[in-house]
Amino acid sequence: MDLFIDTANVGEIKEINSWGILSGVTTNPTLAAKEGKKFHALIKEIAAIVDGPVSAEAVCPDCAGIVEEARELASLAENVVVKIPCMPEGLAATAILAGEGIDVNMTLVFSANQALLAAHAGAAYVSPFVGRVDDAGNDGMMVIEEIMTVYENYDIQTEVICASVRHPQHVVEAAMLGCDIATVPYDVFQKMIKHPLTDKGIAAFLSDWEKVKNL
Ligand code: G3P
Repeated sequence: MDLFIDTANVGEIKEINSWGILSGVTTNPTLAAKEGKKFHALIKEIAAIVDGPVSAEAVCPDCAGIVEEARELASLAENVVVKIPCMPEGLAATAILAGEGIDVNMTLVFSANQALLAAHAGAAYVSPFVGRVDDAGNDGMMVIEEIMTVYENYDIQTEVICASVRHPQHVVEAAMLGCDIATVPYDVFQKMIKHPLTDKGIAAFLSDWEKVKNL
């Protein structure tokens, strides 16, 4: 399973990218709003850092507006993918953009039916929001499982991005279900790398090395 970072913060992206494990970035208007930078300049800056897809969201409500906005976003850098909300106008825009070779990440997906529609429209990626499904009292991972089964049944090539990840166990569960990608917030990456037994082991090895190194 590939790992993307779910942030628009350049410092966080650079730090996690330096680990050598990052395959892409997802942003959304809420994440971009935290940065206080011009949106297009921010997306260009991020796209130059990471060697992989960078999702930037279109916010127009109608098909013609989404298409125009998406073309502009896609022209910012070769690796920009346009995020479009899962709604009828978004599906129609996705079909047009897919025909032009512009990759779409269909976002705000909460069901296998929405993911099926997104795939038929030609979305390159779908983003089911597992954390928000959990918040609503349902099982977010069940949505991932249903989408993976539907896509496997019909050999659908649209890649599934497990989004709205809230903790490391979401990442493990998505990987066990064969999800293509998880987009992981910075703080969850920090939790993924930590283990008390690793810290304890490093401390013990360093302490024992002190006894050996000058023999
Ligand atoms: O980028 C979309 C998604 O990951 C948002 O997550 O935590 O706001 O539900 P969250």
